[in-house]
Amino acid sequence: MYKTHHCNELRKEHIGQTATLAGWVNTNRDHHGVIFIDVRDREGVTQVVFRTEENAEAAKMSHSLRAEDVIQVTGVVTERPEIEGQSTVNANIATGEIELVASELKVINKAEVLPFQLDKELSNEDLRLKHRYLDLRRPRMARNLRLRHRVSKSARDFLDEQGYLEIETPILSKSTPEGARDFLVPSRLNPGKFYALPQAPQQYKQLLQVAGVEKYFQIARCFRDEDLRADRQPEFTQIDVEASFVGQDDIIALIEGVLGRVFKDALDIEIEKSFLRLTHREAMERFGSDKPDLRFGMEIIDLGDVFATSTFKVFSGSLASGGVVKAINAKGFACVTTGQINNLTETAQLHGAKGLAFIKVEDGQWKSPIVKFFTDEEKAALTEKLGIEEGDLILFGADKWQTACEVLGRIRLEVCRYQNLLDGNTDLKFLWVTEFPLLDYSAEDDKWNAVHHPFTRPHADDVALLEAGEFAKVRAEAYDVVLNGYELGGGSIRIHESDLQSKMFTVLGVTEEEKASMFGHLLTAFSYGAPPHGGVALGLDRLVMLVCGEDSIREVIAFPKNNRGIDIMSASPADVDFKQLRELYVKSTYTPKKEEAPEE
Ligand code: AMO
Ligand code: AMP
Repeated sequence: MYKTHHCNELRKEHIGQTATLAGWVNTNRDHHGVIFIDVRDREGVTQVVFRTEENAEAAKMSHSLRAEDVIQVTGVVTERPEIEGQSTVNANIATGEIELVASELKVINKAEVLPFQLDKELSNEDLRLKHRYLDLRRPRMARNLRLRHRVSKSARDFLDEQGYLEIETPILSKSTPEGARDFLVPSRLNPGKFYALPQAPQQYKQLLQVAGVEKYFQIARCFRDEDLRADRQPEFTQIDVEASFVGQDDIIALIEGVLGRVFKDALDIEIEKSFLRLTHREAMERFGSDKPDLRFGMEIIDLGDVFATSTFKVFSGSLASGGVVKAINAKGFACVTTGQINNLTETAQLHGAKGLAFIKVEDGQWKSPIVKFFTDEEKAALTEKLGIEEGDLILFGADKWQTACEVLGRIRLEVCRYQNLLDGNTDLKFLWVTEFPLLDYSAEDDKWNAVHHPFTRPHADDVALLEAGEFAKVRAEAYDVVLNGYELGGGSIRIHESDLQSKMFTVLGVTEEEKASMFGHLLTAFSYGAPPHGGVALGLDRLVMLVCGEDSIREVIAFPKNNRGIDIMSASPADVDFKQLRELYVKSTYTPKKEEAPEE
C-alpha cells in the first residue's frame, strides 16, 4: 500500500495517528535547517516536517528533494505549533491545522527541473501543450478535468433516468453532410475505398429510431476537418440525443433538464427551469446574431420610418433599394478613440458594410459629419427611438437587412469589449433560437444549401412555400441552445418520410445517382415504417468550457490540438512509411515547397 490517506484528508482528529502519504514534492522550504515539504496529490497538499530528532537519515535526504520528485513519507500527524506566540496554522489549505512529522522518507522517482513552473500562469501555449502531462498537474487544469467528468457523468445519469439508452455508433463510417470536410481513412481490405470519420452520428441515430430504439443518446466523439478557433477542435465531443414521437417542445424540455442537472451537479447553481425563446428572425433583428449574448442590452433599433425621405442619400438610398437603416446606442461611449472607430469601421467593412456612420454626443452637441443632413424632426425621432443622452455613441448600418443586422451584431460585441461591459459579470443567459431558415442560397456555387443539415424538417406552415420554390422564406423545425453568446447545441425535428427526404435532396442539388449511392440506406429505411423523430447535440467541450469559466475549449480537453491541428506533444500528424501507404494503396501527391520549413 503506497498511502494510508490522500493529501487533502488529514485533520485535527487524526492527531497522534501514524499516516503514510505518497505524491509529488510541491514546495521545499528550509527553516534554519528544518525542512518543510508540501506533498501534493490530486486531492490537495499536506505539510511534512523533517527533523533530525525523528530520523536523522530522512532529514538529511529531505535536503536534496526537488520540486516534482515523487516521494512516500510516513510520520505522525501533529498539531501545528505556536512559535513565539504566533500560530503556524495555514487557513488557506484544508489540512492547514496539522503537519506530518516524518519518520520515514522514500524517494520513489526523481524529477528533472521542469520546463516551466506549475504555480504560474504561462502564456506560451505551445510550451504547455508540448508538456501537457505537466500542464495538467496545475490545479486549474486538474479542476477542469474533474468538472468535465462531472458534467458528462451528470448528463449521462439524467438521460439514463429519462429512459435514454446509450448506444455507440461507428467511428469508421460513411460521410454525412454536416457542413465541414471529412477526415478519411483508407481501407486496406477494400483497395481504393475510404471510410469517413463521423462529423456527427446523425444518420446512425436516425436509423436507430427506425430500429425502434425510441430514446437514444451517446457521448460521441466527432471529427471535422475545418478551420480551428478557440471554440472549435478537429475532434470534439457531443452529448448526442435522438428520440421518436417527439416534437420541438419535448426536446427543448429535455435539454433544459440536462443543463439544469449539469449546472447543479458541477457548480451547485440553479439555472432557470425554462429558457427564453427567440425566433431566428427576432434574434437577428434585435441582436444581429443567431447566438446572441444577452448579458448586456445595446439592442439594434430599426430606423426605416425615420429616414425614408432623408436628404442623407446613404440612408434614404438604402431604404429606397429595399434595404434598411438600423443603429445601436453605445451608452456612455462618446469617448471612443479614433483608433477604436477605425477598428469598428474595419469590422463593419469586413462583414460587408460600405461604411459605419456614427454620432458622438458630447458637450450637448451631436458630433458627426452626417448630422448636417438631418432635419430637426429626424433628430427628435432618433433621440426618442434610441434614448439618446449626453455621452452616447450612435453607430449606424444602412444595407440589406441581413448585412445591416450582422454588421451591427458584430459592432455590438466589439463595443461591449471596448467598454468592458462584462467585467465581473457572472450571469448565465440561456436562450433557444428557433425557426431557423431551412435553406441558404450560395451565390458562389449557385445552389441552395441546408442551413442545419438535409435531414431537418421544414416548418409545417411552410411546406407550401417549399413546394412553390420560395426557398428563402421556408423556416425549419430547427433550434439552437445558446449560452452567453456561444452556440452550445443545435438540433431539429427530422424528415421521416422517404418521399419528402428525397424531395429535399433534390432541392439541395443531389442527383438521383447520388441519392442512391450516398443516402440509399436512409431512404430505404424510411420506407419501412419510420417513426416521427427529432433530436439535438450539445457540444460537450463548449459546455464544459463555460462551466469552467474558460475562454477556449483547449483548456478543457486533456490532449487538444493547437490551432494548426497539431498535437505538439506527440508530433501528430506525422509522416508514415512508404510501406504502410503501399499497403493502403495510397500515394501522396504532396510535394513540399522548397522554402517551407519542416514542421516540428
Ligand atoms: P451541429 O453541427 O450544430 O449539429 O453540432 C452540434 C454542436 O456541436 C458543437 N460543435 C463543436 N464543438 C467543438 N469543435 C467543433 N469543431 C464543433 N462543431 C460543432 C457545437 C454545436 O452546437 N448532428 C447535428 C445535431 C442534430 O441535429 O441533432 C449536429 O452535429 O456546440
Ligand atoms: P459617404 O457619403 O460615403 O462619405 O459616407 C458618409 C458616412 O456614412 C461615412 O461615415 C460612412 O462611413 C458612412 N456610411 C457609408 N455607407 C454606409 C452604410 N452602408 N451604413 C452605414 N454607414 C455608412
